[in-house]
Amino acid sequence: MNIQESTQKYDQPLTSVRWEGDSLQLLDQRLLPETIDMKNLTTPEEVWKAIHSMVVRGAPAIGIAAAYGVVLGAKQYTGGDKLEWLQQIEQVCAYLATSRPTAVNLFWALDRMKNKASRLAASEDGISGFYGALLAEAASIQAEDEEVCRLIGEHALPLLSDGMGILTHCNAGGLATAKYGTATAPMYLAHEKGMKLKVYADETRPVLQGARLTAFELQQAGIDVTLLCDNMAGMVMSKGWVQAVIVGTDRVAANGDVANKIGTYSLAVLAKAHNIPFYVACPLSTIDLNTASGELIPIEERPEHEITEGFGKRTAPQGIKVYNPAFDVTPNEWVTAIITEKGIVRAPYKDNLAALFR
Ligand code: MRU
Repeated sequence: MNIQESTQKYDQPLTSVRWEGDSLQLLDQRLLPETIDMKNLTTPEEVWKAIHSMVVRGAPAIGIAAAYGVVLGAKQYTGGDKLEWLQQIEQVCAYLATSRPTAVNLFWALDRMKNKASRLAASEDGISGFYGALLAEAASIQAEDEEVCRLIGEHALPLLSDGMGILTHCNAGGLATAKYGTATAPMYLAHEKGMKLKVYADETRPVLQGARLTAFELQQAGIDVTLLCDNMAGMVMSKGWVQAVIVGTDRVAANGDVANKIGTYSLAVLAKAHNIPFYVACPLSTIDLNTASGELIPIEERPEHEITEGFGKRTAPQGIKVYNPAFDVTPNEWVTAIITEKGIVRAPYKDNLAALFR
């Protein structure tokens, strides 16, 4: 069948991250929706490149991939010295932490792997079992993410009603997580229950995660989804078609400021102007109590060709100055609620986010 006429329908939701034998397989998200290509990775260096170049992207999926990257690092150690082994693991973690700066799930997952490695090195266990123990830890991170996303969806369901219009941005979907997504989890669960929602997916310039990934995965699931250019969101809201905005996030600061894909800030402004609730869905692993407020969140800047040649041909003059921040920060006062696996959190965020971790 011609891909222009109809995108292929897949029986199962596509999995972004998969451990197979003793290697890591990543779905190359840069090629979606036209091409399904699982890349086989066997070294931490390959995992670093895959995260950096966005073969795998989305905060939780980046964390899961990095955790398996640590396992690949452990596979390379052939000696018998526990301290030396631990040093190698710590080096791999420090290296993978430089792959992308904004999504805190990356650092959260690497810390978890490092802690596991420290406990192993301090234990009486033989070093021969360490590789398997680290692999089990990475697999737990992945399995827990699926459960956590489902819980996020369950907590969000009471905020939805039949026939509601929901606007989302970027891809905080199943492709960005182990399953279900964060912002999309309530959409999948509502769909399972027979509730009819009308989802609007921003295309999300410049990398088009909304068009290539969110529109694709929701369409695959049979959810009513309409694709919009980013600059159409205001008009669609003014028509009264949107009753809620739900987005994911790469990092929530301790005061509730939210870093997410560039364009999220503008959506929050629009939602406020139209009196539409603005919800952020995320796991606790995306909440960073060590970063006091949004201006302290490192914002990644990406190469200019994403803007000047993003559609496979030059769309801007040679030599033009380009600014390409991958994320922006929405101030906490514009966030109606943050939906987590532990429930719905509202202002005052500083106290209520901290309470989640007690
Ligand atoms: O640059 P990306 O595609 O990694 O950005 C992803 C996002 O901004 C998502 O909204 C965020 O990571 C949440 S994914 C559940």
